[in-house]
Amino acid sequence: MARTALVTGGSRGIGAAISKALKDAGYQVAATYAGNDEAAAKFTEETGIKTYKWNAADYDASKEGIAKVESDLGPIDVVVANAGITRDAPFHKMTPAQWKEVVDTNLTGVFNTVHPVWPGMRERGFGRVVVISSINGQKGQFGQVNYAATKAGDLGIVKSLAQEGAAKGITANAICPGYIATDMVMAVPEKVREAIIGQIPTGRLGEPEEIARCVLFLASDDAGFINGSTITANGGQFFV
Ligand code: CAA
Repeated sequence: MARTALVTGGSRGIGAAISKALKDAGYQVAATYAGNDEAAAKFTEETGIKTYKWNAADYDASKEGIAKVESDLGPIDVVVANAGITRDAPFHKMTPAQWKEVVDTNLTGVFNTVHPVWPGMRERGFGRVVVISSINGQKGQFGQVNYAATKAGDLGIVKSLAQEGAAKGITANAICPGYIATDMVMAVPEKVREAIIGQIPTGRLGEPEEIARCVLFLASDDAGFINGSTITANGGQFFV
């Protein structure tokens, strides 16, 4: 029977590419989104992938939404915690609200997404957790104290989950994309973006599909011995 995958923030950007790649590989896919109804409706129309609306920053909404996905599609075997936001500002200008929004979505959002599916994965003896972190969680970034903190936190989450899930057939891994051609990166001022591209030895932004292929691998049976690790996909911009 086809495995079921949940992708948060799965109707746009990197998440949309992940949802599509999983569907093409034979998974049943549920993609979540937080607010953009129009983009989600268009995505479902184009791909046939079902979308569900809830805010990853809200534990109760996540739990309720996940229960609905499981009643529609069956138990979730693969969870991709991808939903993320930026609220960039130099630290001296960063507001407590900008800090909190990013932490609630990017870090607590991972807890909210994985925690409700974890008991079922343990019971069934199989699970794949993939968290989309970032190059900026590895190296830090001017203007992203909040974002970098959450993306570094993601790495701590998967390293700990890996140890807790291993005996139950669950793996947990992270992917650290570099700068990928999505709305999030396009929102960076053009001059800053051009300077960033200049720091990428490959000489271009990454494509969302290049990250989706990493997810497919980590979700597969072939990746059963890869646990607690980080795949870095950044065009050579930064080496850990
Ligand atoms: N390094 C060093 N100094 C910098 C700098 C940098 N990268 N960027 C700006 N500065 C300096 C400026 O030169 C300026 O100095 P002076 O005051 O001496 O002239 C000072 O900092 C303030 O600059 P700004 O007036 O431009 O500050 P701002 O408040 O308007 O905005 C910013 C700054 C929001 C951080 C802006 O530079 C920015 O958007 N940077 C991009 C941050 C980034 O890379 N975000 C990634 C988004 S994509 C993503 O997150 C996906 C992923 O995972 C990779």
